[in-house]
Parts: sequence; C-alpha cells; structure tokens
Amino acid sequence: MNITSYFSKDLFQGKTVFITGGSSGINLGIARNFAAVGANLGICGRAQDKLDAASAELRELGARVSAHSADVRDYAALDRAMQRLKEELGPIHTLVCGAAGNFPCPAEQISPNGFKSVIDIDLMGTFHACRAAFEQLKETGGNILFISAGQAFMPYAFQAHVGAAKAGIDQMMRNLALEWGRFGIRCNSIAPGPIEGTEGVRRLVPEGSADKLKKMIPLGRFGTPDDIGQLSVFLASPLASYITGTLVVADGGQNLPGSGAWTHLIMAEMAKAKG
Ligand code: COA
Repeated sequence: MNITSYFSKDLFQGKTVFITGGSSGINLGIARNFAAVGANLGICGRAQDKLDAASAELRELGARVSAHSADVRDYAALDRAMQRLKEELGPIHTLVCGAAGNFPCPAEQISPNGFKSVIDIDLMGTFHACRAAFEQLKETGGNILFISAGQAFMPYAFQAHVGAAKAGIDQMMRNLALEWGRFGIRCNSIAPGPIEGTEGVRRLVPEGSADKLKKMIPLGRFGTPDDIGQLSVFLASPLASYITGTLVVADGGQNLPGSGAWTHLIMAEMAKAKG
C-alpha cells in the first residue's frame, strides 16, 4: 500500500513512535503515516496475529518495527513492550495512546463491569502508556497524542461509558501538558469522527445507514485513516512545536452543534418555499 504524504520523507528519520492498539483501524493508519516519513515503529495490541500482519505491512513501507503483545490494562506488560522497543529501536519520541474499546449500550442496561472495561482500556490504558513512556519521552523531549472522540465533549445516546472515558483522557492530556511542559514534552488530543473501514464504524453505524449518516456530516463523508494519520504526523512534528494542551477535532464537522437532521429538514423546507 502506498501513502500519499505531504511531508518530507525523512521528517521522522531516526525517531521512534510507539502506538498502543497500533495493529488495526485508525491506529494502524497513524502507524502507516509515520512509516511514510521515516519513523521506527513500536506497536502493541492483544492479538499476535494482527500484530504480525500489521508489522509486515509497515515493514513493506520501509519501517523498522518492534511489535509485542500487551494489553494496555496490564501496566507491567506495556512497560516491558516499551523497554524492548527502546533496546531494539531507540527511545520513544512520540507516544500515541490509541487503544480503545467501545460498544453502544443504554446506560440503564450496561453492567458495572461493562462500564469498567471501557474505562480500564481507554482511560487507565492511556495513563499506563503515559506513565510507562515518561522516562523515554523525557530523554527525547518528545510528545504524546491522545486519541479522543466527539463523545468527550458532545453527549451521545448509549455512549455514557465512552464519554466518561474520553472526557477523562482529554482532561488528563491537559494536566500532563501543564505538568510535563517543563521536560519539553508536548501533549495533544485528536478527536476523529467516523473513520471509514474501522471497527468503530462497524460497531456504531447501523448496517445500511452509512449514507444517511454521511449526509448529516457537513463535509458529507466519513474520514479516512490517512486523514487522522497526517494530522498525527503534523502534531508530533516540529511544525507543531509550540502546540500543547490542545484538542484537535477531525470529524468533517460532525460534532458542530446544529449539524445533523435539522440542517436537512430546513434545507428541504427552503427548497419547497422557493418552489
Ligand atoms: N453491550 C453491553 N455490555 C457489553 C457489551 C455490549 N455490546 N460487550 C461487552 N459487554 C460487557 C460484558 O457483558 C462484560 O460485563 P459482565 O462481566 O458484567 O457481563 C464486560 O463488558 C466485559 O466484557 P468482555 O468481553 O469480558 O471484555 P473484554 O475485555 O474481552 O473486551 C470490550 C472489552 C468489551 C470493550 C470489547 O468490546 C473489546 O475488546 N473491544 C476492543 C475493540 C473495539 O471496541 N474497537 C472499537 C474502538 S472505537
């Protein structure tokens, strides 16, 4: 697979990027875009077969890859994966906290353990990754990208667990930007909208309704993994060297208040009035 990158091909030459959940979906898209600018890559996830397939793909793009299975809920496993990455490819310059879990469920039906599973993967997993990577990031004067979601700032029905986890992630991002600026570490969040071909879309967009939903997004389409990958490269690069503590929303306008069904109802009404 070829990546059209608008950045210089050696922008991340000699730099190491670690991506939790990097073997699929948006996170693999981010990994591909870092590979296209010369980065060494570390990825972790739960399934070894997915890690193997992703590593092969990233090596084809020219990247050196260190892939070790680790569940972000297991601090010791994550810490081991990062230590091995450092030995194999050098200290982490950019950490991407991407691992996430989601399913739609009414708040009155979700079990405490179901709620906790999402908090554990998203919020605790993100803290574990930041905590384990800290010494390496301090060494490189690196940065952290937190993968958030619109649910962090916009209430979505049947997503109370995800909203709580992602809002927590964004506030942690701001706290760490404040605390770790003194070590030269930048922290920023990205909130992707629905991204084509991902597990998130498979779980959250009811079958047969993708076209209807796209009409409610101001830019009229779902995003691509490259949309998020290019933004990630930008935020992690010297192009963004004075940006920290910021949430960048990359959702085609989906979470703008007022987007959605009303726009289309009123447009239809205006067209009718014009005759
Ligand atoms: N609706 C309601 N509850 C659900 C659920 C659903 N669709 N799926 C899982 N749960 C509940 C389970 O019932 C269980 O609670 P219980 O013990 O009270 O019955 C709890 O969540 C944990 O489920 P389990 O399958 O044991 O957890 P896991 O650790 O194997 O998986 C999940 C974690 C549930 C988040 C799983 O969906 C996952 O692995 N997701 C990763 C991929 C993903 O979600 N990608 C999209 C990211 S946007």
